[in-house]
Amino acid sequence: MKILIIGSGGREHAMAWKVAQSPRLTKLYIAPGNPGTAQCGENVALNVHDHAAVIRFCREKQINLVIVGPEAPLADGIADALTGAGIRCFGPSQAAAQIESSKAFAKNFMARHQVPTARFATFRRLSDALAYLGQVEYPLVIKASGLAAGKGVILPETKAEAESVLREMLEGGAFGAAGSEVVIEERLTGVEVSLMAFTDGKTVAPMLAAQDHKRIFDDDQGPNTGGMGAYAPAPILTAELMDEAFESVLKPAVSGLWLEGNPFVGVLYAGLMLTPDGLRVLEFNCRFGDPETQAVLPLLATDLVEIAKACVDGKLVETEIRWKAGAAVSVVLSAKGYPEKTQTGQLISIGVLPESAVCFHAGTKANADGRLVTSGGRVLGVTAWAQTLPMAVESAYAAVGQIQFDGMQYRKDIARQALFTDLKADGCAKRKSGFESGWLRKAEKRI
Ligand code: AMP
Ligand code: GLY
Repeated sequence: MKILIIGSGGREHAMAWKVAQSPRLTKLYIAPGNPGTAQCGENVALNVHDHAAVIRFCREKQINLVIVGPEAPLADGIADALTGAGIRCFGPSQAAAQIESSKAFAKNFMARHQVPTARFATFRRLSDALAYLGQVEYPLVIKASGLAAGKGVILPETKAEAESVLREMLEGGAFGAAGSEVVIEERLTGVEVSLMAFTDGKTVAPMLAAQDHKRIFDDDQGPNTGGMGAYAPAPILTAELMDEAFESVLKPAVSGLWLEGNPFVGVLYAGLMLTPDGLRVLEFNCRFGDPETQAVLPLLATDLVEIAKACVDGKLVETEIRWKAGAAVSVVLSAKGYPEKTQTGQLISIGVLPESAVCFHAGTKANADGRLVTSGGRVLGVTAWAQTLPMAVESAYAAVGQIQFDGMQYRKDIARQALFTDLKADGCAKRKSGFESGWLRKAEKRI
């Protein structure tokens, strides 16, 4: 099969790395890709927002399957354009992608299908939003409804701050069109966990749960980032919680979209919070998570191409999805000044990595002399996998020791929260065997 992957980050390098292992693959293109994806296939300088150009490229190269990494092209309708042109696309339609591209849609959708989530209201008019602030007692979160590159969620400390955030979004043009509608929701507390699932619109197969590390510094200190590392599986999502997430989140979400006439094909990502009152959905994403994918895909035993093809063909029910035993850890190496004032152009040196480790590129490029330099905030995702989580952590940090660039910063505590969890006691061991047997049966069950 000839495959085109769309995107250019660490997630897309992980996807390309996995797809390149497929026995079904004859040729892989990545648009636009990065120096890492160039080691897995051929990078092509396509403007992915120009759907006609993407379709022309797919026809010319006889592409059998397009796999879309980021949310923006999906929200733009690239899947509709490709499907309309008779080209298979692993990624949801524009309508289904609203589950991520419109938080107002996602919240109302969750309410319609009884998916557990924080109490909320949505507003377009400032006066209505301000009046609502006066009525609610509990701490709040304010979210720009549209895509805001992960920056549209504000946790105001005071009512005055909440008012000024609402003014900025609804009248001040902060976040542009993405902020012209806002969601005001109850602030929840608890541990966050990411659960991604493959779906063909009718069948849903959960992946291993993962945890992201959003703050720049150890112990979750400092400003938010695009994600400083991830690991999988996350033992905090026990067998029972995985079951609950499947029944109360994944199944109603996928069946709800189907019932509303917008079947979702691709990866559905549920951002969950485990609160004292139970599991709640913070957000849905319409694609693989970044950096979660860098930790989850190395553990996928089944051919990703086979799964993607099955999803596009509506045959996920026939596909057995297997996971390797053990754990994977991905440590993000970020550039000097990230996330506030990223400095780029630093030379990168990568030594010999341990076995079962890979360095996924995100913000890198070749300079005029063909040497690898930093070109973004999150530069590399250094990933290792092993029989146990402590071994994977050790190996990932040994790999980090092989890499250098000026101003390199990274967290030293990726996966630490899970290292001290007694896997047996909290049900992880049970969850693993459950995944291999019960979970597979469940994944095969049609909704
Ligand atoms: P979202 O893009 O909606 O997932 O929000 C980004 C981040 O904001 C989440 O990963 C949480 O850390 C935080 N967040 C979002 N919604 C809430 C909420 N209702 N209560 C507490 N924190 C939240
Ligand atoms: N790791 C968060 C995301 O992919 O949106």
